[in-house]
Formats: sequence, C-alpha cells, structure tokens
Amino acid sequence: MKLCIIGCGYVGLVSGTCFADLGNQVICVDNDFDKIENLKLGIIPFYEPGLRELVTKNYDANRLKFSTELNNSIKKTDIVFICVGTPTKKNSFEADISQVMKLIKKMSSSINKFKIIVTKSTVPIITGDRIEKILSKKVNKKNFSVVSNPEFLREGEAIRDFIYPDRIVVGTNHNRTNKILKKLYGPLISKGANYLQTSRRAAELIKYVSNAFLATKIAFINEISNLCEMTDVKIDDISLGIGLDKRIGQRFLRPGPGYGGSCFPKDTKALLSTAKKFDINLSIIKSVVKSNEDRSDLILKKIFQILNYKIHNKKICFLGVTFKANTDDMRDSICLKLIPALIKKGALIKYYDPTGYKKEFKNYKNVSFSKNINSALEYSDLIIVHTEWNEFKSLNFKQFKSKKLVIFDLKNIYSQNLMTNQNFKYYSVGR
Ligand code: UGA
Repeated sequence: MKLCIIGCGYVGLVSGTCFADLGNQVICVDNDFDKIENLKLGIIPFYEPGLRELVTKNYDANRLKFSTELNNSIKKTDIVFICVGTPTKKNSFEADISQVMKLIKKMSSSINKFKIIVTKSTVPIITGDRIEKILSKKVNKKNFSVVSNPEFLREGEAIRDFIYPDRIVVGTNHNRTNKILKKLYGPLISKGANYLQTSRRAAELIKYVSNAFLATKIAFINEISNLCEMTDVKIDDISLGIGLDKRIGQRFLRPGPGYGGSCFPKDTKALLSTAKKFDINLSIIKSVVKSNEDRSDLILKKIFQILNYKIHNKKICFLGVTFKANTDDMRDSICLKLIPALIKKGALIKYYDPTGYKKEFKNYKNVSFSKNINSALEYSDLIIVHTEWNEFKSLNFKQFKSKKLVIFDLKNIYSQNLMTNQNFKYYSVGR
C-alpha cells in the first residue's frame, strides 16, 4: 500500500519504517529540512535501538522515502498518518493540537481521490470529529475517511512493540476503511496481534486511558514502596505477590523515582483537562498526577538524609539522566528536578549517560558530563542510579576498594544482599 507519514518524530519514524519493512511504499514527511536530509543519509534524530539499521535497509530498498513536500506526498498516497506532536499547552493541562489542525487545513487541497486520514498522534476525544468537519468544508465527504489509530510504542522497545503489539486499535465506523486498515496490519495480525475495531471516539480515549492506567499502577506501587520502607518489607515481594494474581499482572509494578517521559505526564494531564470540559471529576487520575509530582521531593528528602543534610560541596554522580534506559529522551526526566535542587544546595554533580552529553545542563556551572564511567564513580560521595541501563547492572564496584561507596539505587537494579555484603552503603526504593 502507499502510505504517507507526516511527522518524523518518534511515532512517525518508527511506524513509517516498520510499515515499509512490511513491504509498503512509504513517504515520511517533515517540515524540518535538516532532519529530512539527515534521514536520507541514515542519520536518526533520536536514539532507538535497531532503528538506524531498519531505516537504511528500507531506504536502500526504495520502500522508504523522505520528503519535505507535504502536498505532493499526500497526492501520491492512499493512507495518510498524522504523527505530529501534541505537547501540553503552556500553563495548562490541555493537549496542544495546533500542529494537527494546521496540517489538516493545509492538506485539504491534496485530497484528489479517496484517502484515509489516520491520527496516530495522541489526540483528545472528539478531535477526529473536528478534523472531519474541517475537511468536509473543502472536500467531498465521499473522498476521505478520518480514523483514530493510536500508537502504543514504548521508547527503547519501539520496533518490537510495533511488530508484536498487544493490540491494534482502529477507530472507524466506515467498513471500507476498516477493511483496508485490517489488510495493512494483516502481517501483524497473523503473528498474533489482536485487532480491535471501535468507534473513533473510543479509539481516541483508549490511548489516554491506557497511559493513565499504567501511570496509576506506577504511582500506586511507588506509594506502597514508601510504606514498605517504614515496615521493613521488601517491595519486590509485594510486586511479585500481587502481580502473580492475573487480574493485577506483574508488569509496571517497579517502583522508582516516578514516571517521566513524553507520554505519561502529558497524557494524564490532558485526560484531566478533557474530563473537566465534560464536567467529570477523575479524582483517581488527579491523585496520580499529584502523587507523581510529589515523588521527586520525597526522593530529594531521602538524598538529604543519606548525606546527613550536608549537601554543600558534596560530589554526587548520576548514572543515567534520561527518563528511562534505552532512550536519549530527557523530556520530563525526574533528574531535571533533582539536579537543579541539589545544585541549589551547593552539590557538585557529575553525570554519566550512555547516550552522552545533555544540553539541558549546559547553564549549570556545577554539573559536568563524564565520558568515563569509572572516573565519575570514583569522584563521588554519593552515586545515584537514575536509569536502568544494562551497562550499570554489571558494574564492578569492587574495584573501588579504597573507598566506601554510597549508592542510592532509584531503580532497584542491584541485589540488596549482594551490595551490603560487599560493604557498600546501599540504599534503594521500598526495601
Ligand atoms: C508509554 C507507554 O508505555 C506506551 O505504551 C505508549 O505508547 C507511550 O507511552 C506513548 O504514549 O507514546 P514510554 O513513555 O516510552 O511509553 O515509556 P514506559 O516504558 O511506559 O515508561 C514510562 C515511565 O514509567 C518511565 O519513566 C519509566 O521509568 C516509568 N516506569 C515504568 C516505572 O517507574 N515503573 C514501571 O514499572 C514501569
């Protein structure tokens, strides 16, 4: 099939490349000229394991093209996927869908034959209705169909999540459209993916509710981990003990510094904003947002306690600064709250991250990037394990025999027994 993907960010580039890999003809469009030129050279704008190889393979095979030309690209294709960003509006919880709407206004002149317009961007419920209304002012209704097909990719696991999704949700009441999309996703359905056709509004809402539910699980286990710390119970036992109940499930019960990233913080807030418009009180999600926002203060308090409230001139090393492992994404990373607060108290911060230097800290005099993990560790009064990269899991701390290391493991990546037996001062979460 001939597909046009608009927006070469995370969702667009991964989906476009994977669709090409399934044998479709794909044009990925972006208005950032440099990004498009780089993509033609195989330079990927963000870190995602396996993506560069897949882009190169499909670009070389002529199935994947990159362009800045919106209208021509739409004209040449049958299905148009909208994959532009929907960030949180400034000083508000609401999702900013202006990029989507701008695009819709621009594309009407390119609808020269029947086209399926798919929103893969996360958009609030009823956005599809609004898109349809705008397009139908200029285009005959018979010539287009607006569908919601939300994306459930996780950064760092995106290719696998695309190829082996738990479910594919397609929101349309239009039979012809559903048939075409079911065919497009056929190779994934035959590998076992569930295909769910719903109303367009339901599909839009499923995306938000999924992320809100997962965020709730995390906030829930984080609060329970606070209770575990006070009662000498290991959170690992609780996560396993409840997770083995199939109704609860074991995943997303890992405690930590709170959820971050470009999705959970944004989507939980956007859902609250939508609910408010309909005069609905989503009190559980409200508490989840608050609980997660309070979490960094709690972690900070624990850091102060570990350092006996003497922060001035203390050397603190962060292992990993992105919002989670296997990504270079800093959006809503908890350390963007922790590091400035520690600096304010006079701490000296070094950080090591497998994805390199981060511009987010360039204006801080006392924050430096260490290329060498060992020198970063040796330098420190406190080591904070902030993300769960595999290379941190196999670190040989024994080499620092001359020093009694103090480690605060925010991701519980080490065995508590092993660490205390090695004579480290070891702190973790909920145990
Ligand atoms: C999330 C969803 O998992 C995807 O299904 C969805 O498609 C995506 O948002 C999106 O809306 O685009 P992502 O933000 O990439 O994906 O990352 P996750 O792996 O879900 O992690 C989110 C945050 O929760 C991270 O800060 C992570 O460290 C934290 N987390 C996750 C925990 O603290 N504990 C857990 O048990 C799991």
